Amino acid sequence: MRTVLRLPAAAAVAVLVVLLAVLVPPAGGAPDRQGMEQLLVIGHRGASGHRPEHTLASYELAARMGADSIECDVVSTSDGVLVCRHENEISGTTDVADHPEFADRYTTRTVDGVELSGWFTEHFTLAELRTLRAVERLPGVRQENTLYDGLFAVPTLAEYLELREELSGELDREVGAYIETKHPTYSDSLGLSLEEPLVADLRAAGLADEGDPVFLQSFETTNLRELDAEVDVPLVQLLSATGAPADLVAAGDPRTYADLSTAAGLAGIAEYADGVGPAKEQVIPPAADGTPAEPTSLVADAHAAGLLVHPYTFRNENSFLPDELDRGTDPAAYGDALGEQLRFWAAGVDGLFTDQPDTGVLTRDLFLEDAAG
Ligand code: G3P
Ligand code: CA
Repeated sequence: MRTVLRLPAAAAVAVLVVLLAVLVPPAGGAPDRQGMEQLLVIGHRGASGHRPEHTLASYELAARMGADSIECDVVSTSDGVLVCRHENEISGTTDVADHPEFADRYTTRTVDGVELSGWFTEHFTLAELRTLRAVERLPGVRQENTLYDGLFAVPTLAEYLELREELSGELDREVGAYIETKHPTYSDSLGLSLEEPLVADLRAAGLADEGDPVFLQSFETTNLRELDAEVDVPLVQLLSATGAPADLVAAGDPRTYADLSTAAGLAGIAEYADGVGPAKEQVIPPAADGTPAEPTSLVADAHAAGLLVHPYTFRNENSFLPDELDRGTDPAAYGDALGEQLRFWAAGVDGLFTDQPDTGVLTRDLFLEDAAG
């Protein structure tokens, strides 16, 4: 993966380097990472801070902003086609509620122990789903993105992979695919297993072998073990600050994400995966009562197990920043996102998921510039 450095004007760099020296604590104890150039900026759901998430427009913008990889979450249609949505319940990210022909499909389901009411992709054929249009998930925080409501379709995984290929050619660099299977155990229970069509789509795109620019990720464990036997691309075990993997819960296995996040748990993950994707508060918990935010041992423990660390999710708006990094009181206003991300690069993470890939590229490049001295 090639780093794209976009250096600001020399004078601005000089000022920023001085600022970094003040803002960024020394990365004491961080492992000697070879290939600092591989620090990965992952466009979370594309460039979802700038376009409705999981649309081809969002993915394309992420690549053009310099994201190394573009994230696609996948769920299944009733006819077994993988499509790009963060969840199988689509009332928050499409205009399905405005389609009277689908009104009778409004229903309630329990997904991973959570009761949800709405419309579910598994009740729509691909042809039906394609009559819907994407809308902004967070219109209150991202009013500007509502400009694009109604313009874009729900893409298939195959279309996302085709776009990745086209953009890689145009931009003369390999734009990475970073694909998450959503609710695999639930999907299995419907007879709509995600892994087989995923592997088929990857193979069709020539992206299932060692060295191909792909990461596969999941909050569950069993399907990653299955994928480990099927493909030779890197796998990432997603972690969470709370709860437990749905497959382990279903199997009566008492292990939680907290268990998986210990040094011993990480060593177990390293048997089948190449990295972990923790929630960002697992890496640097928010400061409390004026106490400076300090990293946990997660990065060091993961690196000791040979695992990459790609935390989620970095967002520029005050709504999603720790209180001490807010600027003003408007939840939609941008806070000190640069300061937050620079803390994480300094803590030794190998990449980060961000809704604003332009910000991620900026902080990564500032960090590298500072590290180069
Ligand atoms: O996959 C990394 C991150 O996206 C996990 O959170 O809920 O946004 O898929 P989520
Ligand atoms: Ca995801």
